[in-house]
Amino acid sequence: MLRQKWYTAGVIQELPIRPRRNRKSAAIRNMVRETALTAAHLVYPMFVQEGEEDSPIESLPGCTRWSVQGIVSECRRLYELGIRCVDLFAVVPEEKKDAAGSEAWNPEGVVPRAIRAIKAAVPGMMVMTDVALDPFNTYGQDGIVKEYEDGSYEILNDETVEALCRQALCHARAGADIISPSDMMDGRIGALRTALDAEGYTGVSLLSYTAKYASAFYGPFRGALGSAPKFGDKKTYQMDPGNAREALREAYLDESEGADMLMVKPATMYMDVIALLRQHTTLPIAAYHVSGEYLMLKAAAASGWLDEKQTTLETLLSIRRAGADIILTYAAPQVAEWLREEA
Ligand code: PBG
Repeated sequence: MLRQKWYTAGVIQELPIRPRRNRKSAAIRNMVRETALTAAHLVYPMFVQEGEEDSPIESLPGCTRWSVQGIVSECRRLYELGIRCVDLFAVVPEEKKDAAGSEAWNPEGVVPRAIRAIKAAVPGMMVMTDVALDPFNTYGQDGIVKEYEDGSYEILNDETVEALCRQALCHARAGADIISPSDMMDGRIGALRTALDAEGYTGVSLLSYTAKYASAFYGPFRGALGSAPKFGDKKTYQMDPGNAREALREAYLDESEGADMLMVKPATMYMDVIALLRQHTTLPIAAYHVSGEYLMLKAAAASGWLDEKQTTLETLLSIRRAGADIILTYAAPQVAEWLREEA
């Protein structure tokens, strides 16, 4: 057979197919690269707190609990760097937490105040907000907790969805562009869409945490917000890490309830889920490179074991290659700076 001869040792001149030709220079590699990572793909999760102080978060190096004033000036800098979307999380003092999580829909709460301030100062910056009750209730659970006399408890679904609608409306009234429910209650996308539309917020987008897994990689984030569950875990609502088909079921529901974008979280351990959803939906897909994933790279870099810039860029490019359009990452400002240096 003629074909066999081409691959026989010693007749290398006769090898006609050489994939290396497409890698022979930076120019050709740049021309044929299938996936790009730019600042436009990035969303920066930010923490906002009461008061005048901007305090660095020790457990999440590079991140800060911002005052409203501080977040506005940081957003100006981020906009300059090419970042066009921030995701806001509230840091809530213990004395403002209650069983219902009612601070979540206080129009003078720190999140609505930050939304108004950012939109006034940097109108081109899209403001996404996290919708869930865990930073606001005394339980550190994403939903409303019912405690029973025997010491057991339940996270109530439909009652929680009602509260999430109040929280989302509070954010929409303040000017949020994208509402991002991270709670994993059933039916919340349809309920949020209905509630927003009923008040005329038909233009406010819903980015659903579609496949959010019960992951140990959220630890540093919960430390940063003081939002770790006071008891139990989140396994009755967040997904089991062993499941991928179930993500398709959640995606189907979110899409039919009116989600504009779907999210997989965490990102790197769940690349198969990102790729699976990419094959089954036409909606944009977001991936959340969570606090624990970010810290693994930070820690290895701080020990001198890995090159922070190269490993971070490779990680985020790989998340894009798996099928994510959008990446939420604490490295966003640093990555935008690196990408600018390389351009
Ligand atoms: C809670 C929420 C969590 C994160 C985002 N929203 C933590 C959790 O579900 O316990 C995690 C983000 C991260 O780890 O970076 N609604």
